[in-house]
Amino acid sequence: MEKYGSVPPALANESRLGQVFLNLLVNAAQAIPEGHVDGNCITVRTLYDATRRRVITEVEDTGAGIPSDVMSKLFRPFFTTKTAGSGTGLGLAICQRVVASCGGEIHVDSTVGKGTIFRVELLATDGAPRRSPLAPPSSRAVHRSRILVIDDDPLIGKLTRRCLAPQHDVNATTNATDALARISAGERFDVILCDMMMPIMTGAGLHDALLDVAPEQAERMIFLTGGAFTQQTRSFLAELPNRQLAKPFTVEALRAIVNRRLKQVPG
Ligand SMILES: Nc1ncnc2c1ncn2[C@@H]1O[C@H](COP(=O)(O)OP(=O)(O)OP(=O)(O)O)[C@@H](O)[C@H]1O
Ligand SMILES: [Mg+2]
Repeated sequence: MEKYGSVPPALANESRLGQVFLNLLVNAAQAIPEGHVDGNCITVRTLYDATRRRVITEVEDTGAGIPSDVMSKLFRPFFTTKTAGSGTGLGLAICQRVVASCGGEIHVDSTVGKGTIFRVELLATDGAPRRSPLAPPSSRAVHRSRILVIDDDPLIGKLTRRCLAPQHDVNATTNATDALARISAGERFDVILCDMMMPIMTGAGLHDALLDVAPEQAERMIFLTGGAFTQQTRSFLAELPNRQLAKPFTVEALRAIVNRRLKQVPG
């Protein structure tokens, strides 16, 4: 970590900013081709632009670089060049959102074959570090909801955790029978996001089972839909019009439906 001169505190929410740099560092590490660790490096440096009153943090790698056709899509949600199943394509979309929400910007410079620099520019603050005005005043006391995600595609659990982890505790499982066992044993969740079509027990099957063992948990279910449905599934969903989220979904749509459910079925 290089630090030039004296850098004042930056205006941002600390835990969300941690998520930004974690994403950038993981991307930087992944840009270095496997087996080419020698001679490659990732450098993090902080700088202060006194004229613009910006704290700048650069994450630089000597990895593969970004071709121009990829550059224009980098920050799009779900854009990834990774193989299916290994990347959500949400890392940079989330980084940009978090940085913009504190009045900052992210810039990228890259040369194919040489490497990339991601530059996070944040507003400088004067004086000692203080809690971000973006966080609610009593944020330490704010209740973090427990969310359960059930989807046979582990990527859905991974990306949901990524989107919701700043506000909630997210648990993920790839099968509804595991979820049923946990709830039957007494575990409780504030919201349950559940895929409709799964091989052993479907979303509708879990809903029916929960109506028997823990009806208030059935009330907390939101159904993730996508693909073709049987007539039976269609009629099931027709009765729960405000509790469905079609895949692929946006970060905003996911947060909105979870927050709505939390309001409608308070803990
Ligand atoms: N440092 C980097 N060097 C080269 N390419 C990068 C770098 N950072 C991001 N990219 C490119 O941007 C794409 C999108 O990045 P983003 O972090 O949004 O998603 P991802 O890394 O593909 O998926 P995930 O973050 O879920 O693992 C990557 O797939 C990669 O092509
Ligand atoms: Mg990434």
